Amino acid sequence: MRDQLYINGSWQPAGNSRTLDVYDPSSESVIQQVAAASPEDIDEAVQAARVAFDEGVWPTLSGESRAGYLRAIAEGIRERRDDLARLEVQDNGKPLPEAQWDIDDAIGCFEYYAGLAEQINDAGELVTLPDDRFRCRVLREPVGVAGQIIPWNYPLLMAAWKVAPALAAGCTMVLKPSELTPLTALELAAIADEVELPPGVLNVVTGLGRDAGATLSIHPGVDKLAFTGSVPTGRAIMQAAAQDIKNVSLELGGKSAFIVFDDSDIEAAVEWILFGIFWNQGQVCSATSRLLVQDRLHDRLVERLVEETRKIRLGNGLESGTLLGPLVSQGQYEKVLQAIERGCREGARLVSGGRRPAHLQRGWFVEPTVFIDTPLDSALWCEEIFGPVLAVRRFSDEAEAVRLANASNFGLATGVMSADLKRCDRVSRALRAGIVWVNCSQPTFVQAPWGGYKQSGIGRELGAWGLSNYQETKQITEYCSDQPWGWYLKP
Ligand code: NAI
Ligand code: MG
Repeated sequence: MRDQLYINGSWQPAGNSRTLDVYDPSSESVIQQVAAASPEDIDEAVQAARVAFDEGVWPTLSGESRAGYLRAIAEGIRERRDDLARLEVQDNGKPLPEAQWDIDDAIGCFEYYAGLAEQINDAGELVTLPDDRFRCRVLREPVGVAGQIIPWNYPLLMAAWKVAPALAAGCTMVLKPSELTPLTALELAAIADEVELPPGVLNVVTGLGRDAGATLSIHPGVDKLAFTGSVPTGRAIMQAAAQDIKNVSLELGGKSAFIVFDDSDIEAAVEWILFGIFWNQGQVCSATSRLLVQDRLHDRLVERLVEETRKIRLGNGLESGTLLGPLVSQGQYEKVLQAIERGCREGARLVSGGRRPAHLQRGWFVEPTVFIDTPLDSALWCEEIFGPVLAVRRFSDEAEAVRLANASNFGLATGVMSADLKRCDRVSRALRAGIVWVNCSQPTFVQAPWGGYKQSGIGRELGAWGLSNYQETKQITEYCSDQPWGWYLKP
């Protein structure tokens, strides 16, 4: 059990000895305490990362050598797969099979970026110039010290999405997990320690957003900020970054639409709709939380959807058969119940769920919830809830569906279902979002770019895009003619 800060390759308590309680959301009880980093601790962690970058070997190691560490970390996670999955369930609440899937994806992420690290071209890429007296090479160099602030919905996986590409690029970093789910990130630090990652390359600091997170984001020793979480916090981080013109990438919220045309297979539609909103209790930035159903299919689809929604088994994520666990925290539980209550007041029609389940007296559980006839101007339709709450509306034609889907401040993901693939392609192109799923919702691959339009963020994670997030681009231009330049000194 890890409960200290991991700074410069060693474990230490918070300087002020403060701690944070860590809760199991299915029992509402405190399962352990972790250190609450003070501003001085954050400063120490940034200094360690700074020294490891400015004076250490890490940024100039070959891509192949760095890949060796990434593969060793992947192996370390694999060896503890089951323990990590159980720990994730205890800390976050999600059903065990989902946690196992997350851990496997985290392993895949480290392995994938090991592959990309091996392919980094240390010699640089030649640029063709129109003047053969010059030769130009472009190097992709690590951006420096990264401050990485992550949320609680996929604790270890979000750490992997940040740490793996940064390590591959040659950055050093300070990772701050969410105060709600810090446990698996500390295990990741332990694994990095075991594989003898050089001290200071990865520092993991637990603490509150408003002190540890805010101190990290304004620290002048940080070159790059990478954040996943809410829009208000993303805004604060972007403002902090403006001070020193830090490089910043943001993965923020969403209110993603799922469009179902009336030629869709109804069973497939129900399956993907459920997966799109109830997976991880709906605490997913890309959750397809707005459902648009074409008129002719609407009533039949809603009926099947409600029938299946009522069968979803709620419970402790460690019990087999559980499909929906508790929400991550009391705060999130209250926020979701308030959003449901407000949806009812705003005139949407509640057709399933909407309450705490009667048979679960402890734990932050909320029934899977479906609203229909959701008013366009309601908070239920416009604002991210981040819980198991689906808002449904009908539409009549393709143009209306696209217009309604695009009428949002967010633009992370969207889905479209139809038997007509030409129509799916037209709609995919018309949607203003970074991710479009055709005849499915939520599948996520480390090879493909991840990120949003509009207020859903800036930049892309995963794939080669995720690596460039942590790279600077340098040109080296060389004069290679044996003739003098001859501007001031005339030959
Ligand atoms: P949050 O965005 O405040 O927290 C995410 C991370 O940011 C945590 O590590 C937190 O400690 C840190 N943080 C908080 N305030 C900070 C600050 N001033 N400076 C630097 N770091 C700071 O999200 P929170 O409070 O956990 O959840 C609130 C809502 O945010 C949710 O209900 C949901 O709507 C949304 N959210 C969206 C996520 C996404 O993946 N898009 C993930 C988590 C939450
Ligand atoms: Mg917890």
